[in-house]
Amino acid sequence: MGSTTADAISFGIIPEARFEDVIAHLRENFFCDEPLNRAVGLCPHPGAPHAELESMSLSTMKQGLSLMATLGEEDRVVGVALNGVTQPGDLENAERQLANSPDPKFRRIFGLLNEANKELSLFERYNVDRIFELRIVSVDSSVRGRGLSNELMRRSLDLARCKGYQLIKADTTGRFSQKMAAQSGLEPIHTVMYDTYRDSDGKVIFPTSPPHDSLKIMVKLLQ
Ligand SMILES: CC(C)(COP(=O)(O)OP(=O)(O)OC[C@H]1O[C@@H](n2cnc3c(N)ncnc32)[C@H](O)[C@@H]1OP(=O)(O)O)[C@@H](O)C(=O)NCCC(=O)NCCS
Repeated sequence: MGSTTADAISFGIIPEARFEDVIAHLRENFFCDEPLNRAVGLCPHPGAPHAELESMSLSTMKQGLSLMATLGEEDRVVGVALNGVTQPGDLENAERQLANSPDPKFRRIFGLLNEANKELSLFERYNVDRIFELRIVSVDSSVRGRGLSNELMRRSLDLARCKGYQLIKADTTGRFSQKMAAQSGLEPIHTVMYDTYRDSDGKVIFPTSPPHDSLKIMVKLLQ
């Protein structure tokens, strides 16, 4: 069940009945705005669908660890934290699936994320057999700047703690998510500066807009 704050925003685990509303929210607010998606022009305009992003988002929501913030009597989805669990072998499966993706822009983005994560060997490094991943944080453009994403992060960490996870991780692709993750106590363990990540012709692969200049993989160990 959700909880209600004075400004009529409720929080709760995303139930299956709201999956399609969350996808609609992501189409409007995340697919175009996320810094790497924007840098490569993954989605042509707000509201546009993206089959693979949607399928990834749905399988994350089905794991039952994702949170939503809803507003008012209409219970409109205004923010989400899509959280998932990663286990050994998942990265290798993701790489195999990615190789079959028909969208070169999508392959470029997840190629970078998979490559960076592979290098880190997190299961061995932290001696864990599952990782709580903060995968997507997205807030409706009409209610940004009011602390909603910080609240979704805080509640996600509480959930991870409650469920007994020892390691939390976020692949933060822009300055704001890095700031939010740092405020929740995550620390960067790996950084890729976008201006150094170039193709064989020397061209920057992700020409992000300032202030988004790097990918940082950030983690927090829970007791
Ligand atoms: C990034 C995003 C989730 C922030 O949501 P939000 O509810 O507006 O964020 P908050 O109000 O909780 O602010 C979080 C921190 O980031 C900063 N921040 C967020 N958006 C900012 C902006 N446009 N300009 C400057 N700072 C910003 C805030 O100042 C705040 O830091 P503070 O606590 O020190 O003041 C939202 O802008 C969004 O959905 N963007 C598109 C999707 C995306 O990029 N998601 C992150 C990658 S997964």
